[in-house]
Amino acid sequence: MTRNHDLAPETLAAQALGFVDPENKALVPPVHYATTFERPPGGIGSSGGPGFSYSRNDNPTYTQVEALLTRLEGGADALVMASGMSAVTAPFLALAPGDHVVVQNVMYWGVRRWLKEFATRWGLEVQFVDASNLDELRAAMRPGKTKLVWVETPANPLWGIVDLAAASEIAHAAGARLAVDSTVATPVLTRPLEHGVDLVMHSATKFLNGHSDVLAGALITGVKDEYWERIEAVRRDLGTVMGPQEAWLLLRGMRTLHLRVAKACENAQAIAEAMQRHPGGQPCPVPGPAGPPRPRGRTASDAGRVQRHPVDPGGRRPRGGAGRHAADDGVSQRHLARRAREPGRAPRLDRGPGHAGAGRPDPAGGRHRARRRPGPRPDPGARRLRARGRRRPPAAHPARHPA
Ligand SMILES: Cc1ncc(COP(=O)(O)O)c(C=O)c1O
Repeated sequence: MTRNHDLAPETLAAQALGFVDPENKALVPPVHYATTFERPPGGIGSSGGPGFSYSRNDNPTYTQVEALLTRLEGGADALVMASGMSAVTAPFLALAPGDHVVVQNVMYWGVRRWLKEFATRWGLEVQFVDASNLDELRAAMRPGKTKLVWVETPANPLWGIVDLAAASEIAHAAGARLAVDSTVATPVLTRPLEHGVDLVMHSATKFLNGHSDVLAGALITGVKDEYWERIEAVRRDLGTVMGPQEAWLLLRGMRTLHLRVAKACENAQAIAEAMQRHPGGQPCPVPGPAGPPRPRGRTASDAGRVQRHPVDPGGRRPRGGAGRHAADDGVSQRHLARRAREPGRAPRLDRGPGHAGAGRPDPAGGRHRARRRPGPRPDPGARRLRARGRRRPPAAHPARHPA
């Protein structure tokens, strides 16, 4: 049971939509570990029953977080999934082989790779464009054949911005749907459905959960139609559901979403400004006043600024380059934070043992001794990037791919 009339989004998230347990008045929703549910004589959902049958179809713990996501995005329905990648791939798998899709060329590398290596082999015709260039986007559309336009804004890793309202007009004029990966913006900064977008996707592993302890994805639709039913069927039939415990953790993580995103924006702005003042600095690609000039237009994502994770005083491409390595080294040598590739992760200030907010205690004590300590470095993946071309060093827990 929820009581949430006219509450602000911050309050809705903080109170899990105002949940109150109808039986015992608990204010925190339970986790439903059940995989199977009693079927009423008339069938699932008959006589006003709750409509659950099997957790690969649905589970009350998913529906709690889905209801919150639907509300925050202003949508008609939501689905939570096992990962961001399962939420990305479902809308493509709900199409048919032979369909044409238009996709942004600079975006999260895992999605690009899946489209190039799997979706094309499966039969989709995938065309990559610079979606921030509306003329290029318009020129790529094939009326009647293009079924989906997929953009990411701000786009990982260069934080390019797409004008969502203009892109949705272009997609709709050709009879296609527009889907947006809104992982970085979150519903705190952008509500894409209000700009004509049909489908919103999140890697909820990032800002939505915000604590680096849940892998999760989400899709939110503006309308419940036959395409949405096919997406639901992809989740059900491939079994890309998340576990109930993860769904519960996601709902709990989202209680602080608005506070975390506001703080991340503040920090990003401060870092961007500091980098501009730095003698070797160049504009940092943070969307907002401290960043480089962006294309003009009704940019849905310029409602706020976003966190940028790897600090790069060179302000160049996050992969490679002396500026990037200097930044990585500077951050880790000063023990400011653990190096990791994950926007929206929980802060891990690493300022020494026993310090409030400290990460793993450092048995070697002070900074200098810790730096000289023999043994594997904490992030072999980053070392591999520096030693590109050379063989990867063995690692106890290899960081396989940056997120
Ligand atoms: C923008 C974006 N979309 C999708 C994904 C994939 O999400 P997940 O790692 O939860 O599968 C990521 C992961 O980093 C991402 O940054």
